[in-house]
Amino acid sequence: MKIEDLKTRYNSVFGGEALWVRSPGRINIIGEHTDYNGGFVLPAAINKAIYIGISKREDEEVHLYAEDFKEKHTVALSALAPSEKSWPNYILGVADQLLKSGYKIGGFNLYIDGDVPLGAGLSSSAAVECATGYALDQLFNLKLTQETIALVAQKAEHTFAGVMCGIMDQFASVFGKQDHVIKLDCRSLDYEYVPLKLDGYKLVLLNTNVKHALSSSAYNTRRSQCEQGVAWITAHHPEVTSLRDATVSMLDKYVKEKDEEVYIKCRFVIDEIERLLVACDHLKKGDLAALGQKMYETHEGLSEAYEVSCKELDFLVAEVRNYPQVLGARMMGGGFGGCTINIVKDEFIDELIEKISVSYEQECGLALSAYIVETADGTGKI
Ligand code: GLA
Repeated sequence: MKIEDLKTRYNSVFGGEALWVRSPGRINIIGEHTDYNGGFVLPAAINKAIYIGISKREDEEVHLYAEDFKEKHTVALSALAPSEKSWPNYILGVADQLLKSGYKIGGFNLYIDGDVPLGAGLSSSAAVECATGYALDQLFNLKLTQETIALVAQKAEHTFAGVMCGIMDQFASVFGKQDHVIKLDCRSLDYEYVPLKLDGYKLVLLNTNVKHALSSSAYNTRRSQCEQGVAWITAHHPEVTSLRDATVSMLDKYVKEKDEEVYIKCRFVIDEIERLLVACDHLKKGDLAALGQKMYETHEGLSEAYEVSCKELDFLVAEVRNYPQVLGARMMGGGFGGCTINIVKDEFIDELIEKISVSYEQECGLALSAYIVETADGTGKI
């Protein structure tokens, strides 16, 4: 995205100049569906981002323009509510949260564009929310901390998009650091930057181009199942407030006989939290082969136990297992479509993409997109 082009287009929509903000999409190496269970995640911000140009208005109105949809949306600041169109919600939800938390903002014009593919599991929505939070902070001098921006963005997703997401996506977008992944403790929000050293290998995303409409309701169902499991344990162990605190023997004792499905889901989460810790040590030691094995294990769990995969994602992971040049692969993000993340030997990347595009189209009847991942810094002014 060229900033000069963005400025020109902003000017033709709203006139005048704007303050510019960039907020990236994210990947996650391992640790899926652990964030809303108080566990760990291992995400990184990437070099695909959402760009926002913003300026103050004289009145108390919010005027939005989305380049992707070539569409305007206007609403009074006093009448913020979820819209029928989905794209304005990620922006309006943030403004609404700020007002509800007592921050003073006035009317504004906001232009949005970006190159994070939508619905690909790269958290374009979190990037929009974080860019909006940061832009409003700068424009109205709110003095928000980075953590507050991430939390407000997450709340916007809950209230205006109806997805009861965890904190991973927004945290990664705000706190991303080039050449690093973030080992984030989602219970305390303590975090550590871990260098992403992939000597001779790269992370490659294979996008199924499947967007499942049911994903947000299924996501919320998984979250409730986890909460149900915790509630049954808490009745006997009041100190347990999330699956992070729970053990397999607690699950065996208090959950298994009550509901087998809930048991299987909770078991996956407990295993995944543990798996991340081991995998992160492998990454720190540079043992990419061992890390890759953990990714395959995660995929199996997400597909068979947590049941958030789909046949296209399963196909892509099964296919790459035929190649020793691919050390690990798994579906990434909420699931039901989007991308797989793969650790692939440098020299083999082109060949892999070529081969797998053909077999994917034959088997699933869809075109595959592939991206070689580069990590990037988090939300900031341009
Ligand atoms: C989505 C949510 C995140 C996280 C992942 C699964 O991306 O927004 O909070 O739960 O799914 O790990």
